[in-house]
Amino acid sequence: MVWHFHSAGSIVFGRGAVDQLGAVAGRLRLKRVAVVADGVLASAGIVAKAVDPLRAAGVAVDVFEGGQPEPTVDVVRAAVERAATFGPDGVVGLGGGSNMDVAKLAALVLAHGGDPTDYTGENRVPGPVLPLVCVPTTAGTGSEVSPAAVFTDTANKIKVSCLSWHLRPAAAVVDPLLTVSCPPKVTADSGIDALTHAIEAFTATHAADMNPPPGETPVYQGKAAVSDLMAAEAIRLVGRFLRRAVQDGDDLEARDGMALAATLGGLAFSNAGVALVHAMEYPVGGAVHVSHGAGNGLLLPFVARYNLAERPAELAEVGRLLGVDGTADAAIAEVERLRADIGIPLRLRDIGVTADMLPGFAGKAFGIKRLMRTNPRHPQRSAEILEIYRAAF
Ligand SMILES: NC(=O)c1ccc[n+]([C@@H]2O[C@H](COP(=O)([O-])OP(=O)(O)OC[C@H]3O[C@@H](n4cnc5c(N)ncnc54)[C@H](O)[C@@H]3O)[C@@H](O)[C@H]2O)c1
Ligand SMILES: [Fe+2]
Repeated sequence: MVWHFHSAGSIVFGRGAVDQLGAVAGRLRLKRVAVVADGVLASAGIVAKAVDPLRAAGVAVDVFEGGQPEPTVDVVRAAVERAATFGPDGVVGLGGGSNMDVAKLAALVLAHGGDPTDYTGENRVPGPVLPLVCVPTTAGTGSEVSPAAVFTDTANKIKVSCLSWHLRPAAAVVDPLLTVSCPPKVTADSGIDALTHAIEAFTATHAADMNPPPGETPVYQGKAAVSDLMAAEAIRLVGRFLRRAVQDGDDLEARDGMALAATLGGLAFSNAGVALVHAMEYPVGGAVHVSHGAGNGLLLPFVARYNLAERPAELAEVGRLLGVDGTADAAIAEVERLRADIGIPLRLRDIGVTADMLPGFAGKAFGIKRLMRTNPRHPQRSAEILEIYRAAF
């Protein structure tokens, strides 16, 4: 069996890493960069922390502050319009997954034209995009190293992703100090997203068993040696540090641990794949106002239970990594405890979902074939997914 492992072109990690943004831009020969940020980050002083080292290195900078959580395609269009007027040679995504993904899509549309909706799905990006530098300010999505960009398709009420190796950033600059101002809810939601990435990657279909349709090279290749290592360490770090980071945002050791967990989780899932939890969250996130992380955290134990018979040993290992008795049941129970301790909603009905929505959700999730393939237990009919939604309702 042959596997590949892909990452951002380089990763600069640690407290104060953001001060090196000018040097990073210099190595990429960037002279004019468009920064994608938002008003919250501007008020928190984080935009200045990224822009100052760029300007000090002689790079011209234009900042878009219109980023929003769980961005719609209109946010992406606005970012593209603003950047096109400036004429950048590179794009910096500063923020949580939302802004980083808008930056990726802006770098794509600036290079290839058209509309973001032209590129949704897998491997539809025709070639390299503008050089991208991603600077996460949450610890969760792993978008700083991933080949994915997600936005909300408001017309079809579903979150869609654009998945291509060309969307991996040229550089990821991960500075745990940038996450210190995250309020507890953002810390919790993004942190459980990191756990979801790591568990989905660790329990995914084996790379050797993926059997992609002839002629297709899936971005998500299934679980393999390196993705397992990274996923396991991400799970261990989340188990040690997520509660602490939520309880005390100034706990720097916990912030360091979660920043590393998020990037490692991103490296794991962006090679092995995410799976049924993400497929089931996309229609939920498109229909009701819930963050991606909270939706995933809610669904995670229900999907783990569905997958249990296919992955008892891996789930038992998840339990050991989370510091509980090494059985699959103990692992799922610990995920449930963690979810409750950090304030993730426990039931779909608590976040505005109504029972009549569930069959439509199941049909949409079942339609995301690439995530059905990566899940260790392949649903044969949407009715199987409907059962999981009903359990989580
Ligand atoms: N591309 C990928 O690989 C990938 C993977 C997982 C999730 N996602 C996407 O990422 C998005 C979620 O990203 P997220 O969980 O990072 O949250 P987010 O980017 O939506 O941010 C949530 C809120 O937190 C604020 N915030 C961010 N950093 C802050 C800080 N340091 N201090 C104070 N406030 C701060 C933001 O302004 C925003 O209001 C979703 O759209 C999801 O679908 C993408
Ligand atoms: Fe995610």
